[in-house]
Amino acid sequence: MCGIVGYVGPKDCSEVLVSALSKLEYRGYDSAGIAVFSDNEIKTVKTKGKLKDLEDKLSIIGSPEGNVGIGHTRWATHGEPSDVNSHPHSGARVTIVHNGIIENYIELKEFLVSKGREFLSDTDTEVVAQLLDYSYNGNPLETIDNVMAELKGSFALGIMFRDFPDRIFAVRRESPLIVGVGEGECFIASDVPAILQYTRDYYLLDHDEIATLTREGVSFVDEHLEPLEKELKTADWDMESAEKGGYPHFMIKEINEQPNAIRTTIMPRIKNGLPCLDEYGITIDKIKDFNSVTIVACGTAMHAGMVGKYVIEDLARVPVNVDIASEFRYRNPIINKGDLVIIVSQSGETADSLAAMRLAKKKGATTLAIVNAKGSSIAREADMLIYTLAGPEIAVASTKAYITQLSVIYLFAFELALAKETISEAECKRLVSALMKMPEAVQYVIDHCEEDCKFVATKLVAAESLLYIGRGLDYALSMEGSLKLKEVSYIHSESYAAGELKHGTISLIDENMPVIAVATQTDIIPKTISNIVEVKSRGASIILVCTDACARGLKEGIADYVIEIPHTDELLMPITAVVPLQILAYYTAINRGNDPDKPRNLAKSVTVE
Ligand code: G6P
Repeated sequence: MCGIVGYVGPKDCSEVLVSALSKLEYRGYDSAGIAVFSDNEIKTVKTKGKLKDLEDKLSIIGSPEGNVGIGHTRWATHGEPSDVNSHPHSGARVTIVHNGIIENYIELKEFLVSKGREFLSDTDTEVVAQLLDYSYNGNPLETIDNVMAELKGSFALGIMFRDFPDRIFAVRRESPLIVGVGEGECFIASDVPAILQYTRDYYLLDHDEIATLTREGVSFVDEHLEPLEKELKTADWDMESAEKGGYPHFMIKEINEQPNAIRTTIMPRIKNGLPCLDEYGITIDKIKDFNSVTIVACGTAMHAGMVGKYVIEDLARVPVNVDIASEFRYRNPIINKGDLVIIVSQSGETADSLAAMRLAKKKGATTLAIVNAKGSSIAREADMLIYTLAGPEIAVASTKAYITQLSVIYLFAFELALAKETISEAECKRLVSALMKMPEAVQYVIDHCEEDCKFVATKLVAAESLLYIGRGLDYALSMEGSLKLKEVSYIHSESYAAGELKHGTISLIDENMPVIAVATQTDIIPKTISNIVEVKSRGASIILVCTDACARGLKEGIADYVIEIPHTDELLMPITAVVPLQILAYYTAINRGNDPDKPRNLAKSVTVE
């Protein structure tokens, strides 16, 4: 999704803007641009392509010299990726960058055209720039406030007025924006990593608040233009955690960070061998009466919810629905007062997940957010909150966020099962102790399976399509394995419940379709073996991910390649079994010449519908 940055201070603004934008590349984008006050005018340079293309253009035409400016990486929504559709966009006296979608831009554009305004681009953003210019009354705050009243949709805006060359303005509704403050300098950014190289102190801009940034500092007003005092926050993510640290890509770095991410996430939530979620408002008394759970999320976070369904139902005997947020929000879901709705989200800003959570609250449900990004919208608005402490996840394909989402879901499932008295305290302690061993187990898999995965990845390079199969938890996990591969290798793949294959999908199987079978659940191993044999006898080559215990139960020669992982408590197996699937996806992407950190067409944080 689009990334916004802005700067006011003593430094070379063009350099700061490009550098800050480079820290937002992970969000996904197709064009980039900056605008800087230079020689009493606003100079804009923008281009289709990557930041490197912008840098090349800047070095050819010369970077605008100045100390105040805004910058943007665009992920196209309205209008194709092109130079002219790139941000910043301008009216005569105003230049802006925008993240989000203006839903009523067509009406506004028609109005402006009727007033004689002409447009260069296809974007909704240019409409806002022109509207600001049209409405300009000499007072920027009043103008922004008046225009905001006209806008429908989601937006974060960085704004420059030609008449105020010493300042920039920022405003948001729905889309995230932060304001960073350093010594004699201020910043705006879509996300904290953009400013970490300059400062760790920042404010979270709230809905419909307007910030004015000068070298002297930042001031805030609300939608009635009343001054606001806001709480200064300090980022506990350091620069190092947002850098590659010697790894060739963020994706493999983040895969390697998983043992630590699990440890950091679970250890503060365990006391006397039992889950302790009190500080997040989750007590036995508070959760014991929930008779159903709905988990709502998108993408990888939804797949963590799928594992959650199997685990919560198994342990706590409470029915669990898992819903895709974009479906949930538009289908009048049956959610009642007293139901529990869990929202899982790495970014805490996914537009559909946020809207789903608001809908659940409106229907009277209690909401629990499992979120990675501190202070994000979902984190702030949920009734109960557990942070996954994965640190910044930069690669678009989620790995360490997923594994920490699973870890939190396990802890919550244990607590709910205790509350429901479906497991004893002794059993809970046994499960918690097994969970505490997972960081070592994941480390073992990373250390021992990487070479196998690298080798198997060479066999997948030419595949056009793949199937992931499994049963029970292995099926829930396969969904994530399949998504990971799709995201970064661009090979089509599906995950299938192994027992369901014969009802249609098996017709796709031939010698050109590799099948990745996950088999970690001993009780259903014989069933999974039957399904593997079915596809093998139709020519598929089989890559088997299984535990040493399951491997022993497998007939000789059933798989073409085996990736063996250690046996842990079977309920917890998704935590270790996902790791080879992630590594396999990573190396398949590399072998196909793709950049796994920035897969085409994808965005890290999807803040528009
Ligand atoms: C995007 C990302 C996925 C992520 C999904 C949900 O599609 O590319 O990696 O799983 O959004 O994001 P969230 O931040 O809500 O977990």
